Amino acid sequence: MQLKVEQTRLAEELDALGKTSEAPPPVVTRVVFTEADVRGREFVKRLCREAGLTIREDPVGNTFARWEGSDANLAPVGTGSHIDAIPNAGRFDGTVGVLGGLEAIRALQRAGYHPRRSIELLIFTSEEPTRFGIGCLGSRLLSGLLDPSAGDRLKDRDGISLNEARASAGFSGCLSTVPLPSGYYAAFAELHIEQGPILEQRQVPLGVVTAIAAPASLKIQIEGEGGHAGAVLMPGRRDAFLAAAEIALAVESAALSTGAIDTVGTVGICEVFPGAVNSIPSRARIEVDVRDIEQTRRDTVLQQIADACERIAAKRNVRVHSELVNSDPPAQCAPAVVDALVHACEKHKLPFDRMISRAYHDSLFMSRISPTAMLFIPSRGGVSHRPDEYSSPEAITQGVLVLAEALAHLSS
Ligand code: GLV
Ligand code: MN
Ligand code: MN
Repeated sequence: MQLKVEQTRLAEELDALGKTSEAPPPVVTRVVFTEADVRGREFVKRLCREAGLTIREDPVGNTFARWEGSDANLAPVGTGSHIDAIPNAGRFDGTVGVLGGLEAIRALQRAGYHPRRSIELLIFTSEEPTRFGIGCLGSRLLSGLLDPSAGDRLKDRDGISLNEARASAGFSGCLSTVPLPSGYYAAFAELHIEQGPILEQRQVPLGVVTAIAAPASLKIQIEGEGGHAGAVLMPGRRDAFLAAAEIALAVESAALSTGAIDTVGTVGICEVFPGAVNSIPSRARIEVDVRDIEQTRRDTVLQQIADACERIAAKRNVRVHSELVNSDPPAQCAPAVVDALVHACEKHKLPFDRMISRAYHDSLFMSRISPTAMLFIPSRGGVSHRPDEYSSPEAITQGVLVLAEALAHLSS
């Protein structure tokens, strides 16, 4: 089988999808169920139809584009990723796995390959937590790990519920029909940019992922007392923002305290009320992201943050309310899918390293219901979640080639 990736075409498609954004290029902002997200979906679905794939969408907007195999009785093989993008993001996070997955299928078609198992390209809804505060929304629902009541419970900043938002983007039906039965896929393989510096530093073109780190996130509300920035004297103030700032520093110390390079803690959201320069903040809201490849170590950090919240609330005489949004276990990738990727690298004489993913991905949840693994390509400068995120067309082509080879192996 002669596999050939159409590098220029794929680069142009990534470019076109990158321009489908709420912000001017090179910034990509494509939040789930916004007009940009819907346009992005339409673009990808058109390309899938042109490739002869059959499209199904579930009630939360997870999209399945299927290349029918010769034996309908066999479980299909899945690949894919997400196209939603956080505010001020780049062009490659998720999209390389979607458009690259499609190009892998097209390369197999051009090579005259006929799969025995169907191959499905998935475009997962809302891998990013931007709008509803929780990551991997679509794959969480697919794996049955998010209760369908989330449809009413999860709300965005404007109070729009997940159910209302999906309806506005044209997705209806009951969320209880989203979960896939365990074993639905014989195998699932996700191509993604590394989003870190390791492959580039080692000058290795590919990473075969063997495990995905365990993410957790918290929403913390702080209530103090507002007042005039000039007239209220410093002693006795109950400044909600200063308590939030101290909690943020406690997150940093807790993450550093493990001494493990794999423990990370970030406060990426801080909102202050009323937000006037001459007004003491009466309320603050922060969101915290904590991850580690070891769940127990991650949970120790969460406990330290909870203790710090209590201590800081007492010291500053403010009320602190902390809500655990998610605390997921790590995923071990499936040896059979790892092996398929390894053999595909070897077949094409492309060096690879086995590595862990510190970022989370829809594969974290697909691994709960299918044998799953991931393939990484280098990110320039290790940069991601920024407009200057970049992976070269050559690097993407190598990833697509190996993915295609592995999909052929897994679907034959
Ligand atoms: C995914 O975008 C992550 O935050 O790991
Ligand atoms: Mn991301
Ligand atoms: Mn991603």
